[in-house]
Amino acid sequence: MNIKTYISLTAILLLPFQKLTAQVSLQNLKCEMLINPLGIDVTQPRLSWEMVSSKRDVMQKAYQLIVASTAEKLAKNEGDLWNSGKVNTAESIHVKYNGLALGSRMRCFWKVKTWTTAGESEWSATNSWTMGLLNYKDWPKGWIGFDRAFPWDNTKTDSRLSARYFRKEFQNTKKVKYATASVIGLGLYQLYINGQKVGEEVLTPSPTDYNQNVKYNTYDVTDYLQQGKNAVGAVLGNGRFFAMRQNEKPYKIKTFGFPKMLLNIHIVYTDGSTANVDTDDSWKGTADGPIRANNEYDGEEYDATKEATGWNKPGFDDSKWLKAEFVQEPSGTIEAQMNENMRVMATLQPISVKALPGGRYLLDMGQNMVGWLQIKVKSQKGKQVKLRFAESLQENGELFTANLRNAKCTDLYTFKGSDVETWEPTFSYRGFRYVELSGLNYTPRLNDFSGKVIYDKMNTVGTFETSNALINQIFKNAWWGIAGNYKGIPIDCPQRNERMPWLGDRGAVAHGENFLFDNGKFYAKWLQDIRNAQKEDGAIPDVAPAFWRYYSDNMSWPGSIVLLTEMLYKQTGDVNAVTANYPAIKKWLHYMQDRYMKDYILTKDSYGDWCMPPVTIEAGRGKSADKKYPSELISTAYYYHFTQLMMQFGLLTGNDADIKEYKALGDKIKAAFNQKFYNNDKGYYTGNNLTDNIIPLYFGMVPESSIDQVFKNIVYTVEVTNKGHLSNGLVGVQWLMRCLNDYGRPDLAYTVATQKTYPGWGYMIDQGATTIWELWNGNTADPKMNSQNHVMMLGDLLIWYYENLAGIKAESPAFKQIKMKPEMINGLDQVNASYHSAYGLIKSNYVKTAHKFNWKVSIPANTTATLYIPAKGKNMVTEKSGTIKDIKFIKLEEDRAIYEVGSGNYEFEVER
Ligand code: BGC
Repeated sequence: MNIKTYISLTAILLLPFQKLTAQVSLQNLKCEMLINPLGIDVTQPRLSWEMVSSKRDVMQKAYQLIVASTAEKLAKNEGDLWNSGKVNTAESIHVKYNGLALGSRMRCFWKVKTWTTAGESEWSATNSWTMGLLNYKDWPKGWIGFDRAFPWDNTKTDSRLSARYFRKEFQNTKKVKYATASVIGLGLYQLYINGQKVGEEVLTPSPTDYNQNVKYNTYDVTDYLQQGKNAVGAVLGNGRFFAMRQNEKPYKIKTFGFPKMLLNIHIVYTDGSTANVDTDDSWKGTADGPIRANNEYDGEEYDATKEATGWNKPGFDDSKWLKAEFVQEPSGTIEAQMNENMRVMATLQPISVKALPGGRYLLDMGQNMVGWLQIKVKSQKGKQVKLRFAESLQENGELFTANLRNAKCTDLYTFKGSDVETWEPTFSYRGFRYVELSGLNYTPRLNDFSGKVIYDKMNTVGTFETSNALINQIFKNAWWGIAGNYKGIPIDCPQRNERMPWLGDRGAVAHGENFLFDNGKFYAKWLQDIRNAQKEDGAIPDVAPAFWRYYSDNMSWPGSIVLLTEMLYKQTGDVNAVTANYPAIKKWLHYMQDRYMKDYILTKDSYGDWCMPPVTIEAGRGKSADKKYPSELISTAYYYHFTQLMMQFGLLTGNDADIKEYKALGDKIKAAFNQKFYNNDKGYYTGNNLTDNIIPLYFGMVPESSIDQVFKNIVYTVEVTNKGHLSNGLVGVQWLMRCLNDYGRPDLAYTVATQKTYPGWGYMIDQGATTIWELWNGNTADPKMNSQNHVMMLGDLLIWYYENLAGIKAESPAFKQIKMKPEMINGLDQVNASYHSAYGLIKSNYVKTAHKFNWKVSIPANTTATLYIPAKGKNMVTEKSGTIKDIKFIKLEEDRAIYEVGSGNYEFEVER
């Protein structure tokens, strides 16, 4: 049995007939599928497990869960916290803990066994979670910091504060059984115990609107402690707390205060006694350390001559350090962080180093990446090396920095003059492919550098490869762009002075991303940010957390709250996503209706089909793309679409009365919409723009009798007017591929996706892009708004890749029922794709030749799939590893033989 699991921290048991792995998913929307998490603050966590078996048709019939307060008790099957007994159900994900009440700092160990159609499993390996600090009083009484600037700090526009260092020593006279650190360090922190960095996370914690909520992280620090003297040290950076552009536009940019920290180390000794190490004014601190300046946009300045060796170890002389000060606490609620922090997820070595005039050197990382550069270089004490970063080069070979706007993206390192000095920044990241180094008096080697690729720790859950190299390259570019823009929040771009979580950019895109990354808990956190940003009257901003205060009132940006809720429910089966967001969506829809709906037309929009491609590449030369063309068609169609989704959500949440209201409202909007925007004679909407036709068609607003005509116009636009290209901006591109596909032209979708000429994804690649551009004409537009690493223009491309090219689609939430219908497209002969769903690994690998179609399919245990096999007759299909007669045939339909299968691996072959 060869088992692959995406659960990295969970042990797997080898069972006679199956393997069982387990994981925790947490209730109340804060989190999805955390593996053995520490410090959660959900009092009824939900548990999920995955069954892996080589047998076919494995369905769960019952489970038993045991939760114990110690691993020993669990081993003896003593469920002193909960023993569910045998529960007859197929439910294996999001099963709610229903045992004794859980309190602060409790440790919970759990395991599960199942009864299935293939027999009874063994118990799973031991899994665990611990509870965080659930009450305000569990925390120390004071935050520490320095609520002021120091003479060397810059608190003007580009806010470059030095990092704040804090330390404290304490004694451990007894033997430690276990110890936990709970820490909030704002904006960003790094924690050390006895000189060792605690955890592998970087740029912690995830950013929030600190006036609303602040997130704490929990670490198991047992192994960091020692008998006798111990020292704890913390470094605090600006992050988004001490805002990146203080005072630049105070009407727009939120600022919160100076860096500060709240920390508790809770030690349990083997004799059962406990001790706490808390932040208070017995700590010592300094702002005069080596990190002289740090800022998310501008970079970091590090002076190694200022290093205080051993500052985070016991015995350091801190007599010259200041007394830590009790400072103002942030007003946000303290909450456990239920999404993973960022980490260095990969490293890249430059592919070339080249000399530039003036003793400078240029590194090419070979990939537009997001993170930072580690250097291993040498020089004399006091000399400096300067690193400047950019996504691309100018024609003269120099860095192209115009698109950074006023973000400096520059690191400055001052040598201490030892042998080779290794350094990397702590509190600043940037998007870059090229690095210019100045100040070195020798030619560095490639392995003196290492590009640290940084994003939120989440598994890559999808693979995708086809016989078309361009389709594959677009997938790669998308992976890099998506990964890089995960920064505790989904940012729009990682390089210029913006890096804002714009809602509109992620509407359908997040759904496509979910096929690549295990992003459930990340987006659950972002939905919480969005709810927190909602105003009392119901308004939802365009950016959340609203670090930039934009409440422009439109449907398509704030509307991502609805699309993301749908995505989480569909892709991960998390019904709590719906319960938690329903009231906020309802309130917002009311707010928009009250203010902006006139005769069932939603009269307010902000961005229109944002960043539509100029008709020719030349037409966009030098022009900024920040022109807005508000469109009542878009806002009204979106409003309608949301009434339809709210009807589904109403059903799930038992809001029956609302369903009727949304139905009635939706019907009226649809009628008014067609009345106002539909041209009966010509069979198109308003100006026959591609997006104007696609949205009403895909949203189901087009009268039955006009559907063919509208689709004909769409096809004409793409095929004839655009010569096989798209012409959508951010809004239209989110529905384009699915619309072309579902109304019968997957081949045309394929033509659009594989264009190498303008405009299209292939054009970007042809021009050297290694990520996805913000603009279709990213090579000619004004640099002012022209990032080379945005994900918004992916639209629904990745959804189409998985659901239609590979044919892996959730027919019911979390892929409990899977629809597998790969489109047969001339020119695309092979697709190999996989997706690790909550139930397990789904695979679809097909090869087609003139005479044969071969399809290897894997379906996880406890799920079923409907397979649409391309065959004109039932008798043309064989199944290699079994017999086709054992597989349930449903019917023949439109050149497909439809079968229903349970879990297992299959290989179908069709003579063509
Ligand atoms: C951002 C976009 C965003 C847009 C809306 C831009 O500056 O980069 O991604 O959606 O503004 O105005």
